[in-house]
Amino acid sequence: MYNVMIGFADDFAQALKLSRETEIPEKVTINGETLDYTETPNEILICGMGGSSIGGEIVRDYSWDSLEVPLRVIQDFNPPASLNKHTLVFIVSYSGNTEETLYCLREALKRRARIVAITSNGSLKRLLAKTGIPFFKVPEGYPPRGAVAYLTIPILVTLEKIGLLGIPCNEYDETMQLLRDLKEKLSVETPINQNISKKLALELYDTLPFIYSYKPYSCIASRFKKQLNENSKMHAKFEELPELGHNEIMGWQYPSRLNNFLSVVFLRGKGEHPSIEARIKFISETLRENGVKTCEIKGLGYSKLVNMMSLLYICDMASYYLAALRNVDPLPVSLISRMKTFVEEKAFNRNQLESEIRKLILQ
Ligand code: PA5
Repeated sequence: MYNVMIGFADDFAQALKLSRETEIPEKVTINGETLDYTETPNEILICGMGGSSIGGEIVRDYSWDSLEVPLRVIQDFNPPASLNKHTLVFIVSYSGNTEETLYCLREALKRRARIVAITSNGSLKRLLAKTGIPFFKVPEGYPPRGAVAYLTIPILVTLEKIGLLGIPCNEYDETMQLLRDLKEKLSVETPINQNISKKLALELYDTLPFIYSYKPYSCIASRFKKQLNENSKMHAKFEELPELGHNEIMGWQYPSRLNNFLSVVFLRGKGEHPSIEARIKFISETLRENGVKTCEIKGLGYSKLVNMMSLLYICDMASYYLAALRNVDPLPVSLISRMKTFVEEKAFNRNQLESEIRKLILQ
């Protein structure tokens, strides 16, 4: 797991190269209907679960102030009623076998939407092979959450290729360079006093962490919460500013014995609004008065992309070091796997869903 996680810097560069090489066709004919990928969509839906949904969250937050087409991340069986033939749908599943995501695929096909798939294998790869539907092949052998670069960059690059998003080349270059430098600084060989991830892990050790952030960094806070769940096998909570200042904050009003066991991490980065800065100052002071441990991690570099990706790298590695401190193996997610098996035995008929999807492709 260590190699997968510290390898993020290399994966980022490789994922960018592979994504740029993958062609998005102008037209695809499915079931007698020709879909025009050059037409501007009315809406973009990114369907995926868990480790396969983080790419969607990152793209959503990155493009929040520049993408003129509405974009939603769908973490459910049912896509929204707005899904129709003018929608561009990304179907993202690392394993290619995730029930919720396959249901979204079925709906996208039924409603004649344009589909872009991202997967390494499984039902998704089997079903879409030879259909002509654009398909990003993610390398095999990763745990899904470890393939984050491959599950994010194809979406960004596709949106660029179809002219909906413009990411300056120097943002990518700065990000690749800075991630390469960070790789050494976050590595297991770098001692704790020079290693931000190890320091963060130690701060959070034996606490229940609350991760607070704001757009475009909220997706990284959400990712960190999930990495703490899956890698470090612990509870964590995520809330977003400014909304948390209108409700969540009240939980900190009174001192409590519980406060000794809680910690709050603020994820911050370039472009912070003065009103956000003021809110963080107020909340940090309140927390300290009430005996709650606080810390903050700042994104590095100049551009938005590098700030987001450096935060992700630092937090991901912190979840790895926290697993080591807690003496747990960061790789297996046995409860997730057991629940999937249980559901497949009790409720999910994969063969039936696959045959419904096949009919929609082949009729
Ligand atoms: O990290 C994990 O293993 C999970 O969160 C999975 O990503 C999630 O269960 C969905 O599976 P997949 O990514 O294969 O679609």
